[in-house]
Amino acid sequence: MRVQKIRHRFECNLRFLLTWLILSAVACIIYVFVVFGSLINKTVLPSNNVPSTIPYITVPSEYNVFLQFNSTPESINRVYTGSIQMNFLARDVTQQLFFHRGEKVKISSITLQNSDGNTSTPTAGAYDKSTGVQAYIPISNLTSQENYILRINFEGELDFPGGGPKHLEYALPNGTTRYSIVFGNTVTSSSGLRYLMPCLDATDFPAVFNFNIRHSSRYRVISNFPGRIQQSILYTATIFNSTFAMDSSQVALALMDVELPPVTVQQNGLTINKYYRKNVVSNISTDRIIQFMAAKSDQIEKIDVLALPSLTAIQQPGITFYDENDVLRENVDLGSIGSSL
Ligand SMILES: *[C@@H]1O[C@H](CO)[C@@H](O)[C@H](O)[C@H]1NC(C)=O
Ligand SMILES: *[C@@H]1O[C@H](CO)[C@@H](O)[C@H](O)[C@H]1NC(C)=O
Ligand SMILES: *[C@@H]1O[C@H](CO)[C@@H](O)[C@H](O)[C@H]1NC(C)=O
Ligand SMILES: *[C@@H]1O[C@H](CO)[C@@H](O)[C@H](O)[C@H]1NC(C)=O
Ligand SMILES: *[C@@H]1O[C@H](CO)[C@@H](O)[C@H](O)[C@H]1NC(C)=O
Repeated sequence: MRVQKIRHRFECNLRFLLTWLILSAVACIIYVFVVFGSLINKTVLPSNNVPSTIPYITVPSEYNVFLQFNSTPESINRVYTGSIQMNFLARDVTQQLFFHRGEKVKISSITLQNSDGNTSTPTAGAYDKSTGVQAYIPISNLTSQENYILRINFEGELDFPGGGPKHLEYALPNGTTRYSIVFGNTVTSSSGLRYLMPCLDATDFPAVFNFNIRHSSRYRVISNFPGRIQQSILYTATIFNSTFAMDSSQVALALMDVELPPVTVQQNGLTINKYYRKNVVSNISTDRIIQFMAAKSDQIEKIDVLALPSLTAIQQPGITFYDENDVLRENVDLGSIGSSL
């Protein structure tokens, strides 16, 4: 009777021990996965290693940018994808690579190519949300006076309140809603491109910006430079090649319904294309456009002008946006239309 009791207690303890061992093993495996998962794509540098302004060490000369918007004039799609190829010179030896990106611009892949053509993948460093500065650590130090190419694939979001590209809604005469996509910064801005794409977004870093924008065939696209439409069976794209360097804050673009054809005027050696709702605005003064246009528009020899409701006014090289209500007020001031309106 007593012996049995002892054996029973022993069996009980053995079962407890085995259960405990199995649970520990399972917990260990889970822990390994959690640690491994938390290391993927995670910051390596503490955030105090990210400067608030980007040092003048990596200096871009040219960006080749691809953007793909999935909206149409009739339907909104808030996600867009893109890639940049940034050619830059390292002016000094550096262990880190810094660039700006808006909070909603998410990087999916990144590679760095040196002047020998060797490609490597830098490691993600810290990101400072308040300054928008992202750090990356290249596999080896960048060499002084060597040219590099940084390639980044990313995904962005339209209609984020902090800045960046957004949908602009307006009504047709029959009440149907249409959507444009607009992106641009006011004349007084010194930055802003980071909300569209990763870049060195400060007046220290002017560069040539070439854009290839893929879009619905229902859209016509305008930007700082004249566009060239590329039509294939699979897609429609508009290509904008830059002929001079601009500040990042000067980059502007808009996607508009092809059913909003422009009124074109030639004046002062400029081709001026005015896009506006003809049922609302009767005319936009060419003299006013020329008076307030960005100085470098002369070199581009064209200005694309877009006026729509609630559009923030901008004047950047080759492109001007107006709030439709401002145009209406101005027409009254200029006596183009009766002040009874
Ligand atoms: C990389 O550069 C840092 C200074 O920026 C220097 O301290 C370090 O020794 C360099 N590393 C190599 C491997 O050259
Ligand atoms: C770069 O590529 C060359 C051959 O193309 C190779 O010999 C060299 O080791 C590479 N350098 C690095 C840092 O990978
Ligand atoms: C309104 O007009 C647009 C363009 O003229 C047309 O495509 C659309 O079908 C019309 N909508 C209605 C409800 O009539
Ligand atoms: C625009 O630039 C790209 C890349 O630099 C080039 O391949 C293309 O031929 C250029 N197109 C025009 C019309 O200049
Ligand atoms: C626009 O207004 C200007 C000046 O008021 C006038 O000369 C021009 O003919 C008008 N254009 C159109 C298309 O009505």
